[in-house]
Amino acid sequence: MSAAPSIPHRRISVPLERDAYDVVIGSDSLNDIGLALIDAGVRRGRKILVVSNEDVAGPYGDICLKSLLSQGFSADLLIIDAGEDQKTPATVARIHDAAFKRRLERSSLMLALGGGVVGDMTGFAAATWLRGISVVQVPTTLLAMVDASIGGKTGVNHPGGKNLIGAFHQPCLVVIDPNTLRTLPVREFRAGLAEVIKYGIIGDPDLFHLLEKCVQPEHAEGVGAELLELVLERSAAAKAKVVAADEKEGGLRAILNYGHTFGHVIETLCGYGTWLHGEAVAMGMVAVGELAVQRGSWSRDEAERQKRLIAKTKLPINWPALEIENVLRTLQGDKKVRDGKLRFVLPTSIGQVEIRDDITSEEIVQCLQALQSSYL
Ligand code: NAD
Ligand code: GLY
Repeated sequence: MSAAPSIPHRRISVPLERDAYDVVIGSDSLNDIGLALIDAGVRRGRKILVVSNEDVAGPYGDICLKSLLSQGFSADLLIIDAGEDQKTPATVARIHDAAFKRRLERSSLMLALGGGVVGDMTGFAAATWLRGISVVQVPTTLLAMVDASIGGKTGVNHPGGKNLIGAFHQPCLVVIDPNTLRTLPVREFRAGLAEVIKYGIIGDPDLFHLLEKCVQPEHAEGVGAELLELVLERSAAAKAKVVAADEKEGGLRAILNYGHTFGHVIETLCGYGTWLHGEAVAMGMVAVGELAVQRGSWSRDEAERQKRLIAKTKLPINWPALEIENVLRTLQGDKKVRDGKLRFVLPTSIGQVEIRDDITSEEIVQCLQALQSSYL
């Protein structure tokens, strides 16, 4: 019989053949992070390098370190600068320098305490230190909780594009404490909701309905603690299911890119940072919804429901003023082009999507014209 202590939080498993792990969700779970690691089979005495930034380490660094130290781990904190522009090989080199200084060994761990930027970089640093050591993801933005922390995509940006350098490296544990969202700027919270709405459309109609019924989904207080935990659980489960079915994105995992094809165009042409990633994805979902309606594969009624929910969360629904020629050119340069063909994830109903590579430039032009003539 195992005497391992266990903690009463929601738990989703990511049932990968080689690297199965759990996503633990619960208020104050950060206070129990040491115990959660023991629960996950990590032995006391291991060295842990916690990587975070000022925004997050300020309110949560001590809580995390205290919990780790109280369970007999040897933990240190490394602070890196915040922001997408810091997601570079140079910052990963800083993490490696810290790993070297602290003599991190094969049995040591890195722990990412932060949003997707910290998570992606720490995951990549762990993937490449000593050819791969374990990483724990402790996401503190809604986007990182429902998306970036689960699934093992890690990496940094290259001047030529986002996330061009990276590796698949699954975490050994993900711990989500919704209380950390209390300090998250509301705009970042909304950006994360775009990914939650995405899960509703690509596979979980009940999740979509839950958000539709919520009167004020645009901030954490409006969603409320109970619904927020449920939303986190369903979103984590949705992501886990897709990742388990297609870990390395050979096919199905591409449905997670719903809304991202047009979204990346907006991020590229409007400049990274002008629109948050989630805002661009929300607009991208509206755009691809229009495309599906025009092709006759989605009902106008459901497309309007998607748009209403996005508007209710105070995410953008008006396509920015962009030259159509530039949009087409940017689409051709997107990572989602395969064998020269554009790939779009199109909705067929709320809860179901299909991957298509037969969309013509004419259809895209028609869609963009419709979007531009329907400004609210
Ligand atoms: P982010 O990590 O930049 O965080 C947004 C801002 O919020 C930052 O300024 C951060 O310091 C601050 N912050 C984070 N948590 C906070 C908290 N609890 N309280 C106060 N401030 C807090 O942005 P993000 O949206 O979390 O992540 C975006 C990144 O994630 C992108 O680089 C994207 O490429 C990546 N991403 C990765 C995956 C994946 O599968 N690996 C999926 C989606 C996105
Ligand atoms: N965020 C998309 C993926 O994890 O595949």
